[in-house]
Amino acid sequence: MKIAVGCDHGGYELKNLIISYLVGEKVEVVDTGCYSEDSVDYPDFANKVCQNVRSGEYDFGILICGTGIGMSIAANRYREIRAALCHEAFTARMSREHNNANILCIGGRVIGTEVALDIVRVWIHTQFAGGRHQRRLDLLS
Ligand code: RB5
Repeated sequence: MKIAVGCDHGGYELKNLIISYLVGEKVEVVDTGCYSEDSVDYPDFANKVCQNVRSGEYDFGILICGTGIGMSIAANRYREIRAALCHEAFTARMSREHNNANILCIGGRVIGTEVALDIVRVWIHTQFAGGRHQRRLDLLS
């Protein structure tokens, strides 16, 4: 599994923790920045991760900003992207199982580290259920 991970300054600390977790899980990760807590603009980093996923080079993306909202708005501008903003494990699981989300968005200022890592763990281990859910996704295009 290959995952592109990006953040803005509001998600910088959590991004580093998530990358460490993913590497420990033997996931191939690209860190598309940002690389410090200096203020940056989240659309720039959402675009990088989306490009990695849209091109097929990476299977999934994870985007972290302060609330996760800006990242999810930016990512969902792309037709091929289904970005899910999740603050707990149940919606994370559903976003994969029912929505085939290919980008996970998290608010680094909203949830704690353990909840965030739980979300990531559930998200990367849940498969899309297909069937009626694929029919619904087809209606979106
Ligand atoms: C940055 O201050 C903050 O606005 C950003 O991280 C994010 O929460 C936007 O949605």
